[in-house]
Amino acid sequence: MKLHSTLLAASIALTLAACGGAEAPSQAPAAATPAATEAAPAETAAAPAEAAAPVETAATQAGECAFNLESNDAMQYNTKNIDVPASCTEFTIHLKHVGSMPVAAMGHNVVIAKAADAAAVAADGAALKPDHVKEGDARVIAKSNMIGGGESTSVTFEVAKIAEGGYNFFCTFPGHLAMMNGTLTVK
Ligand code: CO
Repeated sequence: MKLHSTLLAASIALTLAACGGAEAPSQAPAAATPAATEAAPAETAAAPAEAAAPVETAATQAGECAFNLESNDAMQYNTKNIDVPASCTEFTIHLKHVGSMPVAAMGHNVVIAKAADAAAVAADGAALKPDHVKEGDARVIAKSNMIGGGESTSVTFEVAKIAEGGYNFFCTFPGHLAMMNGTLTVK
């Protein structure tokens, strides 16, 4: 019994000693908190591409025997048809290039010819700078100058020359015919 008490006392003493010696500084530096989480990159949704403006909206009839036609840097006229009153002796198409690209890169003109001849007229003028229309081309009823961004021109023709129908207006700048081509409707 006595022995047991002694062992117990020793055990207590060891425990105290251990505790006493364990005076480790308690000011453990606070664990560095991980850097503030970076703001999640905002995945900004790509803005939906603006749909091209409708082709017909800006076209305006500029009076009984004339039409204000616009063209742009996207290789477009702003209408696919121009009504030509049969009551007019002459008809004028005023062409404005509302873009900013130079004539050498995005030139536009207005050429009047049978729809069936348009491709050949444009092909024959492809290499002929700056107007891209063969001189004296008998298939051509009328043609304007070739213009660049910010410029305007006009072309006037006798309505009797297109009275039979089937005529188109188009641009002969190389590569533009497919996009820049519309009908002339005498009515
Ligand atoms: Co053109």
